[in-house]
Amino acid sequence: MCGIAGYIGARNAIDVVYDQLKRLEYRGYDSAGIAYLDGGEIGIMKRAGKLTELGKLVGGRPDGVTMAIGHSRWATHGGPTDTNAHPHYDRFEQIAIIHNGIIENYLELKMDLARAGHEFRSETDTEVAAHVIGAEYAKGVSLEEAVRHGVRQLRGAYALVVMSKREPGKVVAVRNASPLVLGLGAGENMLASDIPALLPYTREIVVLEEDTIAIMTAETLRLTDGDGRELPVKVEHIDWDVAAAEKGGYEHFMRKEIHEQPQVMRQVLAGRIDEDFGIRLERMFSDFVWHEIDRVNIIACGTAYHAGLMGKHLFESALRLPTDCYYSSEFRYGDPVLSPRSLAIFISQSGETADSLAALRLCKEKRIRTLGIVNVVGSSIARECDRTLYTQAGPEISVASTKAYTAQVMTLTLLALYIAQVKEMPGVRVQAIAKEMQGLSERAKAVLELEPEIVKLAEQVRGAPLFFFMGRGADAYVALEGALKLKEIAYIPTVECPAGEMKHGPLALVHEGVMAVFGASESSVRDKIVSNMREIQARGGTVLAITTEDDGIVDRVANVTVKIPNGDFDYLDALLSIIPMQMLAYHVARLNGCEIDMPRNLAKSVTVE
Ligand code: AGP
Repeated sequence: MCGIAGYIGARNAIDVVYDQLKRLEYRGYDSAGIAYLDGGEIGIMKRAGKLTELGKLVGGRPDGVTMAIGHSRWATHGGPTDTNAHPHYDRFEQIAIIHNGIIENYLELKMDLARAGHEFRSETDTEVAAHVIGAEYAKGVSLEEAVRHGVRQLRGAYALVVMSKREPGKVVAVRNASPLVLGLGAGENMLASDIPALLPYTREIVVLEEDTIAIMTAETLRLTDGDGRELPVKVEHIDWDVAAAEKGGYEHFMRKEIHEQPQVMRQVLAGRIDEDFGIRLERMFSDFVWHEIDRVNIIACGTAYHAGLMGKHLFESALRLPTDCYYSSEFRYGDPVLSPRSLAIFISQSGETADSLAALRLCKEKRIRTLGIVNVVGSSIARECDRTLYTQAGPEISVASTKAYTAQVMTLTLLALYIAQVKEMPGVRVQAIAKEMQGLSERAKAVLELEPEIVKLAEQVRGAPLFFFMGRGADAYVALEGALKLKEIAYIPTVECPAGEMKHGPLALVHEGVMAVFGASESSVRDKIVSNMREIQARGGTVLAITTEDDGIVDRVANVTVKIPNGDFDYLDALLSIIPMQMLAYHVARLNGCEIDMPRNLAKSVTVE
């Protein structure tokens, strides 16, 4: 994911920003650049490749530069080239801009601007944003006014930083879903996409809130809302060391990423649901005829496969669209029967999983339409699919996938709602579900507040020899993911199956001390789940139920009940129930002294067969 850096003050700003970019290298990138003010003009130095390529230019930097902004880029729109690297000028080279995220409506804006005579050097959405803001700035308003008016035209998830040659010594920044933090020093101020880039210079940090605009000079920092109303500046003192900073102060990336899920839920939806709760994916699918699609094949591995099963459940139950879900390794060697009118969806966090990539190439040979649902921008699967919906979850470092799963399921849900919207399916309450999706972030925060309860439970059950994970409907699919988390980081054996399947074999494994985790968010089958719980208890097993706050029967039977805030759609309640399971796996592993972020035998991206 991209990195953002910026500095204003007495030090040489180019040296500081270059150092900041080096501290953000762990996020991954494929080009980098710096814009700086020198002699009343904005200079830009940028190069594709690793930071050392840019370093060759930095070596010849001018002295006395007091303001600079810098960026390390993961290619999204346009390949990793010098021209596509950030920063970008506006039409008249009055401003320079750097950007994290994706501007969903950049093509529409670019066509409008081109008709007005704008010419573009790069293929990026960022340069379009620069021209949009530059066009506002050309009206003679202040830089912050130009940013305020400009971003109202942008749709998507972004963090933008802008400097101008007309207003030296001032930087303006704004964010919508992509993170941005500001650092306050003595006679100097700075900013970055992540705290590690700031710590060598200051520990006084301001986290930029959603849709807030920062106007920063070497001596001052002002914050305003989208209408220019001043907002309070809340400074936090950060006492982490740099290693901890890369983990956001958490002990492990996994726990950081579990706790990032409320923000990720916002990022997934940013720019994709409009004010009337309509789904905005038309740019992605403008030439797509959904009526032609007679079947969907979802192909993935591991956690992504589990997300795919949730997609299957939704596509079939809501859209009545026949959907199969395949393990990539089975699909590529299984000689599957593929309808020429089918759509193949490839889900992958890394976008580099060998089996999924091979399955994708098999589909392309057979001229099957392909769609990627991928997290790492510019990855192989993302590039080779006909089109890709990015999950926008941000970098996921821990081998055990958590926030990427949530983002994958939400992206699949968005896609299902979009299909229902395009096909005008009366039975699908698109706006109601979209509205509920927008509320998931707050509900996820409430679920995360149950963590102390989960820690106590982990202390009680961490010695259990075997865990069952079960549910019915969507809960049965979430159970698979909950089981995988415990297996892969706590190395505890698990049995995962639909609750109704227990009696057909797995029940033989139940004995005193076995723990059974039930997802019980599907209200229509709760009485069946309660019977399954009793079957476990009758054989000495202990039952942990994850249900919803409005449920009054499960907690009368389960040994332990975790209640999550419920909504109007069981499917989204089921998705939220993965968070207690993620936390349970994490704390059992932590208490058992397991290596959390890099579990034995596993890799973050399985790029070999
Ligand atoms: C899940 O926690 C594991 N990291 C693994 O199962 C992973 O989901 C699988 O290897 C697929 O990876 P991908 O999403 O990058 O394709």
